[in-house]
Amino acid sequence: MSSKILIIGAGGQIGSELTYKLRQMYGEENVIATDINRNNSDLVNSGTFEILDAKDYEGVKKCVETYNIDTVYLMAAMLSATGEKFPEEAWNLNMDSLFHVLNLAKGKLIKKVFWPSSIAVFGPTTPTKYTPQYTTTEPKTVYGITKQVGERWCEYYHDKYDVDVRSIRYPGIISWKTIPGGGTTDYAVEIYHEAVKTKSYNCFLKEDTELPMMFMDDAIKATVDIMMAEPETVKIRSSYNLAAISFTPKEVAASIKKYIPDFKINYVPDYRQDIADSWPKSINDSYARQDWNWKHSFLLEDITKEMIFQLRKTYKAISRTS
Ligand code: SER
Repeated sequence: MSSKILIIGAGGQIGSELTYKLRQMYGEENVIATDINRNNSDLVNSGTFEILDAKDYEGVKKCVETYNIDTVYLMAAMLSATGEKFPEEAWNLNMDSLFHVLNLAKGKLIKKVFWPSSIAVFGPTTPTKYTPQYTTTEPKTVYGITKQVGERWCEYYHDKYDVDVRSIRYPGIISWKTIPGGGTTDYAVEIYHEAVKTKSYNCFLKEDTELPMMFMDDAIKATVDIMMAEPETVKIRSSYNLAAISFTPKEVAASIKKYIPDFKINYVPDYRQDIADSWPKSINDSYARQDWNWKHSFLLEDITKEMIFQLRKTYKAISRTS
C-alpha cells in the first residue's frame, strides 16, 4: 500500500521543497499540502492544497481522516527571531501542533511522524565546537525551548505509546525557491538575494559569527533518508544532530565576491546577534552518519555557485514580467 502524506506548514521554506520532493517520490495524489495561508502561490497551484491551522486539532484530524493519511510531516513553526517578539504565540503554535500530531499517532490514526528540531535547542552553556549529541541544552529563545521540550515529548511518545516519530536538529538552511521567515540564520539566504539584486547587504550578524548551515538539497535528503530508514536503525527518538558545513558572514561574502566582485557588505548587528551567540559553531552528527548513513554533499562554494545561478534566473524572469 502506498503512503498517504500530509504536510502541515507546506508553504514554508523547508515545507515547500519537501512537498515537491515527496510528490516526485510518491505521486502528486498521495501528498496533501496544507498551510495557514495561500501566500506560496507556486505551491498552492502545484497540486492538492488545503488551508489548515496547525493549532486546530479537529481540523488536523479531519484532514487526516478525509485523505486517509498515514504519515505527517509537521513543518509549521514560529522560528527563533519572530518567537522572541511573540513568545506566547510561539509556544502555543509550536507545542499545540506537536501534541495534535503525536496524539493522532498515539490513537493510531497515523503511523509515522516527522517533526523538525533545531540547533536552537542548544544554549550558551553548550560546548560550541563540534557540539555532541548528548550535552547541556539550556536554550535562551522561546523557539529553542519549544524544540527542546518537543524533543522530550517525541521520545516519551515513542517509548510509552510506540509512536514512530523521527526528528533531526536542522542547522540554518540555505535555499533559493522559498525565502525563510523569522529565523536567525536567515541572513545566509538574504545575503544572496541582495547580492544578486543590489550588490550590497546589511548583515544583522557580526562578520565573525560562525553558525552551522546546510543547503536545502542536503536538508531534504536527510529528511527523506530518516523517514525511509528501517525503524530499528532510528535509535534516537528525541532528535538527531545533523551537520554539513559551518561559516561566518565574512566567509559567505568572500565566496559571493568571486562571482560579484563589487559586492559590499555592512555589519549592523541587532537582537539576533545574542541568539546566534548562544548557538553552536559546529555540530557533531556522528550518530546520524552511523545509524542511517547520513552524508552531506554541498560545501560553501557549491552553495554560492547554485544560489547565484538560480537567483540570477529568478530575478531576470521577474524583471521580464514586470
Ligand atoms: N533557522 C532557524 C532559526 O534561525 C534555526 O533552526 O531560527
